[in-house]
This record gives sequence, C-alpha cells and structure tokens, in this order.
Amino acid sequence: ETHRNILVETRGRVGIITLNRPKALNALDEATLREVVSASAALDADPGIGAIVLTGSEKAFAAGADIKEMAGRGAPEMYLADWFAGWEAFTRVRTPVIGAVAGYALGGGCELAMMCDILLAADTARFGQPEINLGVIPGMGGSQRLARAVGKAKAMDMVLTGRMIDAEEAERIGLVSRVVPAADLLEEALGVAETVAAKSLPSVLAAKEAVNAAFETTLAQGVQFERRLFHALFATEDQKEGMAAFAEKREPRFTHR
Ligand code: HXC
Repeated sequence: ETHRNILVETRGRVGIITLNRPKALNALDEATLREVVSASAALDADPGIGAIVLTGSEKAFAAGADIKEMAGRGAPEMYLADWFAGWEAFTRVRTPVIGAVAGYALGGGCELAMMCDILLAADTARFGQPEINLGVIPGMGGSQRLARAVGKAKAMDMVLTGRMIDAEEAERIGLVSRVVPAADLLEEALGVAETVAAKSLPSVLAAKEAVNAAFETTLAQGVQFERRLFHALFATEDQKEGMAAFAEKREPRFTHR
C-alpha cells in the first residue's frame, strides 16, 4: 500500500509510522487520518509486530489538525461527517504504540500524541492546545485526555490560554514519560518498542487493556477487570515459562511474541 503523507517501515518486531507532510508541519488532514488509521490497523493485525512507534519530523510531530482544510466548513457538514471521529479507530489499536515527539505537537498533534500508550519527548518538543486562538476548542479528545493525563489545573491552563509547554514541563506534569536529547529520540523510542515487543504478547495486550480500563470505569470494576485478566493469563504457556525461568534463574523464552 502506498501512502502520501506517512512513511511505514518495520524493523524486526517493531512497526514505525512516520508522519511525513513537511510542507504543512505534518498537519493532520483527512488523507493523513486515513493513512495513519489504515497503517496502524495493518501493523496491529500482523502477528510479527509487537509494538508500533509513531513519530514525526525534527521540526514537528504534528502542528495540529489541518486548519486550511477546516476553515470554510459549516456546522452541519462538520456534524454530518462527524469530523475527527475517525481518529477513534487509532485508539482501538491493541498493539502498544510508542509516541516519539520532537518539535511541535499542537492541537490535534498533541491529541494524537496523547492517544499513544507510552510518550517520549525530545528536548525540543513543544506541546499545546492552541484551538482557543482559532475560536474553537480541542476536537480530537484533548480536553478529556489532557485532563486525565495531567489533572484539571494544567489542563485548564493549557486549553484556556493556548500556551505551549516545553518538554521539561511536559515531563514534570506527567504528560510524557521521558525526555531525551533530540538526536537520540528515534533510537530511544525503538529501544522502548523492542523491550515491549520482546515480552509475551498476551500479557502485553492485557496490560494495555487493564491500564486503559482505569480511564473508563470505577476503581472497584477496574480492579476486578484487572484481576480477571490476571487469572486468564495463567492459561498461557508463557506464564508457565516466565515463572519457571525465574525459578531457574534464566531468561524466559516466550512462545507468543
Ligand atoms: C494547516 C499548517 C498548520 C496547521 C502549520 N501549517 N500548521 N497548515 N494546518 N495546523 C503550515 C503553515 O500554514 C505553513 O504553510 C507551513 O505549515 C509552515 O508553518 P509556519 O507557520 O510557516 O512555520 P513556523 O513559522 O515555524 O510556525 C510553526 C507554528 C505555526 C508555530 C507551529 O505553524 C502554527 O502556529 N501552526 C498552527 C498551530 C495550531 O493552531 N494548531 C492547532 C490547529 S487546530 P505555508 O503554505 O504558509 O508555507 C487543531 C484541532 C482543531 O488541531 C479542533 C477543533 C476543530
């Protein structure tokens, strides 16, 4: 499958999707949405892939939804097309997605980054929800995922003022898990992806489902959901192998990866 706005490659058990629309700082237009969704679904369906890296360029992960594409539209067509709903398909990818952000992650770019499971930032990264400066608000989940990720104080600050935060602040408030020198970003992200891809896949998929449940349910239901997944993993060879390897003081040789 050929893509116009993204590059897709695989390295061993890791799939890499690179946003590649440099003339618009990777602004997320409809074509980019379709390509990211179809490429991630294809990698998700590939049993040889255990983790996906999503990245952009040195200058921009993505500078937002495509403002020029939206500018002239009216409310009925936005509503009838359910504009941006297509991105929800990206959040249904079961394979862990490692986001690697350098440069701008603004508006839809920040929202796409927050759809990733593990988020790494280059020291050049800038995050923001500047939609308020355009007379609108976030439309790809930003108000919800930002509030859940960093709490009300920082989310309100960013969404109401539109100010950008740097990588250091993003890590301090818990928006990203690590900050690395820009030159090391891709290698670092690939390292994280390879680490995840080397685990037993059933446990990886269950772990992602369990953490995501924390954002969708009550504590009691979430804890029970986790416990049931934990019980189910005792049906896998890899649970037997993982625990045997521990007792025998050796590395596990997982079947499902
Ligand atoms: C369309 C974009 C774009 C965007 C940049 N470009 N961001 N095109 N949509 N979101 C285009 C510019 O128009 C320009 O094209 C080219 O990319 C390079 O950008 P410059 O502005 O010249 O670069 P620079 O001066 O370095 O400034 C970088 C920047 C600025 C600070 C990131 O581009 C910027 O403020 N972009 C918009 C950020 C933003 O508001 N994002 C939120 C979008 S709304 P030309 O052709 O002139 O060279 C959103 C959700 C909307 O994401 C939800 C509600 C509907």
